[in-house]
Amino acid sequence: MTRVVLTGAAGFIGSHLVEALARRGDEVVGIDNFDPFYPRAMKEHNLVEMGSLPGFTFREQDMLDVEALEPIFTPDTVLVHLAAKAGVRPSLADPVGYVRANVTGTAAVLEAARRAGVSRIVFGSSSSVYGDSTPVPFREDAIAIEPVSPYAATKRAGELLLGSVAPIYGFKAVSLRFFTVYGPRQRPDLAIRAFTRKMVEGSTITLFGDGTQARDYTYCDDIVAGVVAAVEWTGSMPVGVETFNLGGNRSIPTEAMVAEIARALGIEPRIEWAPMQPGDVQRTAADLTKSSSRLGYMPKISFPDGIRRFVTWFREVYGRTD
Ligand SMILES: NC(=O)c1ccc[n+]([C@@H]2O[C@H](COP(=O)([O-])OP(=O)(O)OC[C@H]3O[C@@H](n4cnc5c(N)ncnc54)[C@H](O)[C@@H]3O)[C@@H](O)[C@H]2O)c1
Repeated sequence: MTRVVLTGAAGFIGSHLVEALARRGDEVVGIDNFDPFYPRAMKEHNLVEMGSLPGFTFREQDMLDVEALEPIFTPDTVLVHLAAKAGVRPSLADPVGYVRANVTGTAAVLEAARRAGVSRIVFGSSSSVYGDSTPVPFREDAIAIEPVSPYAATKRAGELLLGSVAPIYGFKAVSLRFFTVYGPRQRPDLAIRAFTRKMVEGSTITLFGDGTQARDYTYCDDIVAGVVAAVEWTGSMPVGVETFNLGGNRSIPTEAMVAEIARALGIEPRIEWAPMQPGDVQRTAADLTKSSSRLGYMPKISFPDGIRRFVTWFREVYGRTD
């Protein structure tokens, strides 16, 4: 049994992770402040969908409050830090809020963990740190110093912050770079959910770019399996930070993504094209050599299968929280 403190527990990825950890018998303390980036009702619904899980307790708590966080930790706790303001385009409108949550917030969580004597840490980072200048497929040893949005810069800053203090504070830490995660409970700002809603409502979908943009989409259960493997890995790693990609193992052009949703819904999509948006990158693709050999990570859910599962869930909740 592992004791885990999970920040961002009411969110999309966090809520799936709670279920997986509780199912394997871990004690999980979930923290979330229901950040208004998207509606609180959706996050409350995530907690309801989880049902009652033995070993799981939830605290509504802002992670910026170091004094309130510190007593939640014990020295044998594994910190999984997923709380953040997520999303590339919204970060262009709120860079101050993103820095506060993702940089100051990460510093606060790490400081509370340090004071309590925590050593094992898993940090949820993002493929966006690779920017638009890293050769594909992205490898973890790429220098990644040209993020193209405030969001990407804050995630890279979080990684650098963790890397700077790990040897000083004795942290055994893993930074996981998630590649566009999708599945039930997906955030409403993300394309797959937003496009699905528009198709169901008969609205026109706006695709940005010239049709060559592509994303490495990763099903939530695969991400969760990677995070759980990383939690285990921190138990035997030396002091320092190790970075791993968690991707879906194939890059899918935007139009093919839309076609897959349309197939699952049985709806003919109406599409219009617009120029590429600031902050967007051309293509993401994860090199999984390191995460497969060291963490044993390998995504299992095919894109069509993942989209079918997402659409099934969407149909259930549509009208309730969407
Ligand atoms: N979803 C993706 O495609 C994706 C891709 C790459 C990286 N990530 C990263 O994974 C993590 C989880 O993303 P998600 O998609 O589940 O997002 P999400 O918004 O659903 O979850 C993040 C949670 O953090 C909480 N939070 C924000 N500020 C907080 C604060 N000050 N105190 C406490 N809680 C706070 C929010 O209320 C939210 O529930 C984030 O760190 C994100 O940057 C996500």
